[in-house]
Amino acid sequence: MDGGISNPAGTAERLAQMLAALPDLARDALVDPVPPRNLNDWSALPPETPAALFCPRSAEQVAAILAAANAARVPVVPQGGLTGLCGGARPIAGGIALSLEKMTGIEEIDEASATMTVLAGTPLELIQRAAAERGLFFSLDLGARGSCAIGGNAGTNAGGNRVIRYGMMRDLVLGAEVVLPDGTIVNALSKLIKNNTGYDVRQLFIGSEGTLGVITRLVLKLHPAPGCTHAAICGLSDYDKVVDLLRGARRKLGPTLSAFEAMWPDYWEVACAVPGVRDPLEARHAHTVLIEAQGTDEAIDGPRFMAFLEAMFEEGIVEDAAISQSLSDVQAFWGVRDACAEFKTTLGPHHAYDVGLPTGQMDGFARACRAAVAEAVPGGRSVYYGHIGDGNLHLLAWVPGAAPQPGEALDEAVYATVRAFGGSVSAEHGIGTTKKKYLEFSRSPEELDLMRRVKRALDPNGILNPGKVIDA
Ligand code: LAC
Ligand code: ZN
Repeated sequence: MDGGISNPAGTAERLAQMLAALPDLARDALVDPVPPRNLNDWSALPPETPAALFCPRSAEQVAAILAAANAARVPVVPQGGLTGLCGGARPIAGGIALSLEKMTGIEEIDEASATMTVLAGTPLELIQRAAAERGLFFSLDLGARGSCAIGGNAGTNAGGNRVIRYGMMRDLVLGAEVVLPDGTIVNALSKLIKNNTGYDVRQLFIGSEGTLGVITRLVLKLHPAPGCTHAAICGLSDYDKVVDLLRGARRKLGPTLSAFEAMWPDYWEVACAVPGVRDPLEARHAHTVLIEAQGTDEAIDGPRFMAFLEAMFEEGIVEDAAISQSLSDVQAFWGVRDACAEFKTTLGPHHAYDVGLPTGQMDGFARACRAAVAEAVPGGRSVYYGHIGDGNLHLLAWVPGAAPQPGEALDEAVYATVRAFGGSVSAEHGIGTTKKKYLEFSRSPEELDLMRRVKRALDPNGILNPGKVIDA
């Protein structure tokens, strides 16, 4: 490409050309100066200032901005709530940032179809609350619920705490409206669960991390609000028992099982050290698990939950447990799991990982990875936790007091171990720029080639989030 967009020379001219060609319709979307919040996501990368920031109010404005950027070959970085951990929404020097933050709102709740139609910039927590007010439930939940935007959740195929029961974003989106890099607005706003009419357009964009199109509207799938919720924090003596407990929970709680979060003792220690976090157990255990079950009827599901725990004690699987007596207990139990959101303050800078592994191999991986991190960098530490029922282990790695953190060496140690275990370098956070180098560890050459072909077909000028996920 003549004067390719990765070449910074000429970027000012291209931006000037784009601004000159911008129709009146899109002019008021330009926000100047760029607020600090739009310079970065939650990755450990340094902030980057975009050449300009646009905050459109409609899909038509998004389309006009993309068409002008495409004609002038200006890179565009879509932004949602900026809570991603991999640099996907971090601006590119010389490019523009396109934030969906002003496109918020719930357009419709259709109780008969159990769907909600929303604008892409709407914060997740607002959607959860709006569903609850109508006796419904939007099941996606993650620590950044107050800040993340639903368009970003879809763009990154967010997972979170209740995947074990309800699935990831891919399973929760029935329809989408997406603007292509050339400004075409694609209406795929179906409410249908069964719509077996050719290629699945919405799924192409879910998990594409803003590299194929800009999601502007979504039709979300809702569930009935739970009639009752029970939770327990269980202490166990080894990892085999954690796997036994998962098997028992699946068997005895059936479809009510809504979360199964395992925490290794190194995680438990740093989580309980976060101010305001209360340890619900009296003694320390080799493993700790948070189990949650959402039922329909207290009179049936309360005794079912107790019977499950009793069986786990009788079979010698659980050593100790704290059992919720109220919803506030359930929330307090989640406090230990959500404590990781405070680690930036309590641990200082660290690198976060979200690896995919077979559930049975997670403890073996944790041991190998802990040793690899300690060996790769003097003083290297790591802690382990995760949604193990989904085959998703999290770990944090860092060197206390080191500035900057030896990110590259930590990544190498972690991903070499992932590769040795045949795992995935990302189970839920995506690739962005931070994991791009390691994508080939988890995808075949043919898959990577197919991804490049899709990218080139939809974005032939390479203007949309270039350099993220995969180089086309
Ligand atoms: C979590 C995020 C980091 O599960 O994915 O805590
Ligand atoms: Zn997670």
